[in-house]
Amino acid sequence: MIVSQIAAMAKNRTIGVDNDLPWHIPEDMKFFRDTTKDRICIYGRKTYESLGYKPFPKRFNIVITRNPDAVPNKEAVTVVTSIEAALEVARSQVAQWGQEVFICGGEEIYKLALPYSDRIYLTEIHKEYPGHAFFPEFDKTIFKEVYRSKRTDPLPFDFVTYEKFSK
Ligand SMILES: NC(=O)c1ccc[n+]([C@@H]2O[C@H](COP(=O)([O-])OP(=O)(O)OC[C@H]3O[C@@H](n4cnc5c(N)ncnc54)[C@H](OP(=O)(O)O)[C@@H]3O)[C@@H](O)[C@H]2O)c1
Repeated sequence: MIVSQIAAMAKNRTIGVDNDLPWHIPEDMKFFRDTTKDRICIYGRKTYESLGYKPFPKRFNIVITRNPDAVPNKEAVTVVTSIEAALEVARSQVAQWGQEVFICGGEEIYKLALPYSDRIYLTEIHKEYPGHAFFPEFDKTIFKEVYRSKRTDPLPFDFVTYEKFSK
């Protein structure tokens, strides 16, 4: 099983404001859809809330919460209470849903998942945005850049991939 984080981040590390995305970048949304389609997606309860408590379609959705009974539409997803439990459920599903498992946010879950992550797909937006949620700092001597592709529409951003290398 490969654990991959996938996120879009502003220059000041913002990933979200008022439980929503601060930008609308169609090519990045397409990248997210294409990369995670038919795969396992793990995310936090607040990100689930930001989706209107509707799971990503055509994906195996795992939601992390401290309070499973209070999660709306919990029947539509697999609810767990720790990142370790999320990864255990994911491991039981990889034969059907693929070996690459995606950590889809938000800030709290990216942080929790970082020690378990092998890869980070980061869309780096070259503009600052005010925000309430931020992508965690990560060690670039451990996660090394292996791919970067520049875009300009509708604003300058890069698709970047970091891979974990042991020191
Ligand atoms: N730009 C991007 O790529 C991207 C991607 C995803 C999300 N976002 C944005 O990120 C923001 C949401 O991020 P967030 O950090 O506020 O929320 P989040 O990480 O999506 O979810 C936080 C919730 O996860 C649960 N949780 C956290 N730590 C836990 C632990 N140790 N054990 C069990 N459950 C735990 C708690 O749920 P309970 O409260 O239910 O206990 C907590 O409230 C939104 O603005 C969203 O739009 C951006």
